[in-house]
Amino acid sequence: CGIVGYLGFKEAKDILIKGLSRLEYRGYDSSGVAIMNENLKVFKCKGKVSDLQNLIGEQDTHGSVGIGHTRWATHGVPNNVNAHPHLSSDSRIALVHNGIIENYGSLKKELESKGHEFYSETDTEVLTRFIEQVQKDNECSLEDAVRIALTQVVGAYAIVLVSVNEPGKIVAARKGSPLVVGVGEDKEEFFLASDATPIIEYTKDVVYLDDEEVVVLTKGDITITDIRNVARDTYIETLDMELEAIEKGGYDHFMLKEIMEQPKSIEDCLRGRVIAEDLHVKLGGIQQHLPDLLNANRIIILACGTSWHAGLVAEYVFEELTRIPVEVEYASEFRYRNPIVGKGDVIIAISQSGETADTLAAIEMAKERGATILGVCNVVGSSIARASHEGAYTHAGPEIGVASTKAFTAQLTVLTSMALMVAKEKKSISENRLSELLRDLEQVPAKVEQVLKLDSAIESIAEIYKDASNCLYLGRGYNFPVALEGALKLKEISYIHAEGYPAAEMKHGPIALIDEEMPVIFIATRDSSYDKVVSNIQEVKARKGRVIAIVTEGDALIPKMVDHVIEVPNIHEMLMPMISVIPLQLLSYYIAVMRDCNVDQPRNLAKSVTVE
Ligand code: G6P
Repeated sequence: CGIVGYLGFKEAKDILIKGLSRLEYRGYDSSGVAIMNENLKVFKCKGKVSDLQNLIGEQDTHGSVGIGHTRWATHGVPNNVNAHPHLSSDSRIALVHNGIIENYGSLKKELESKGHEFYSETDTEVLTRFIEQVQKDNECSLEDAVRIALTQVVGAYAIVLVSVNEPGKIVAARKGSPLVVGVGEDKEEFFLASDATPIIEYTKDVVYLDDEEVVVLTKGDITITDIRNVARDTYIETLDMELEAIEKGGYDHFMLKEIMEQPKSIEDCLRGRVIAEDLHVKLGGIQQHLPDLLNANRIIILACGTSWHAGLVAEYVFEELTRIPVEVEYASEFRYRNPIVGKGDVIIAISQSGETADTLAAIEMAKERGATILGVCNVVGSSIARASHEGAYTHAGPEIGVASTKAFTAQLTVLTSMALMVAKEKKSISENRLSELLRDLEQVPAKVEQVLKLDSAIESIAEIYKDASNCLYLGRGYNFPVALEGALKLKEISYIHAEGYPAAEMKHGPIALIDEEMPVIFIATRDSSYDKVVSNIQEVKARKGRVIAIVTEGDALIPKMVDHVIEVPNIHEMLMPMISVIPLQLLSYYIAVMRDCNVDQPRNLAKSVTVE
């Protein structure tokens, strides 16, 4: 979910609506705003922010304090009643919430016994009523009620509240879900949001709230305490982000823009970190814990989704170069199975958003047990970045399209650089090999650029397969995780069922699916498993499957065997995933566009999953 707030001297509605549109990638089931004047004016509905705008139409929204929300449903289906903001029983307090209140059931019972009636199925309405009840019982200010209530709340939250009883004030708090405050000139206005994207067009001065912090905003003043009312510092940081980075810049979709940006994002990610001619490879952010990596018993990579796929590539790269054993785990599985982890283990947490709830909880657990935590995040200042001991940012710039593209290649860039840095320090790599790999790494942006030029050829292939109902992606070695990622991209945005498999495993199941209708995409670039992949292609062709193959330029063999080829430039096999994934991103993109799917906001998904 995404939340916004504004307090200042401008019309709140315009800022809230614009902010919600910028945050829409975080959830888009329903949205709403509450604007404070003498009364609270609340508008909310099922659907997108554009539906909310239509609902508001020409109605009076005058007021310069307000809050808003765009939802990714957890408790209760997306409908008008479950949409946020939620109101107190006297409709004088409005609240928006991102997260999950775990003990809402018991709180609800308690409140029902005191006469509260609930209209929605949400945990948020319960929290609103609970704060209302606490304020009544204690005859205290809104911020005190919030603090007292939160000491009794179990779960994760970022909440923002306004109350007509205390006009000119916003109270907000967070635990586990992100919240950023933008500080306007002379503190005459404040902006609140789940991340910085709705804020940067107004101010670059921001305060990232920490867990269990409560912030009170009034004109000219910002006060932060913890939930026990102990004062906390207000540390204002300056954002290093430009507005263009979060706009479409002439492209039809953010996803296409982000695919096309990859030469630059990879370049940005390498800048200052890799200089091949000096045999230089260094990630400044993990210097202090480099000894932990060098002496690690084990590296455990934790991530979800696309980031997990980047982790799988990193496993192969790290083991090959550093000879340190690596395990890659879904954060959600790791945290719930009492894993063996402790001192001597290094955790690498990979997350574009830096907010994925499962990944965050998994590293907190590993940290408690003594492991060293290194974060590989894209969003600067995000929760995972801050919960890590050290880390390296991917510097891909804001990624807005829900399907991750440039973040993935930037993650691979950072992880490969990290492995090379460790290998260099450990001397587990020869100088020649290091030099060769660093030189190839420096060439990745130019080679990605070359692949992007194939977009119209890929568009033509998309045209042929856009009506497929199933699709299989196969690869081996470094290209196996690319097969998984290619399948994920297709299913996420085009809703075509797709599976990624290690090519050799095909004969243990998926081969049963192959017939003349079934497109099979082979990532078959020239590497150490090339000959084996060729055999797998033959197995598919023998069963009349339709094969699209990603091959290395100049391949003379595979083009004769398959239906379509996409040629990519040669590079060291370890770096190939950064190149071979590009045609798969484009293929999914064009198929989704041709199927009229909402590419940037696919159904049911959210970019930043801040619930478990
Ligand atoms: C969601 C997004 C994916 C992303 C995954 C992990 O499912 O839709 O694109 O890969 O979360 O997110 P993270 O921000 O931790 O990389």
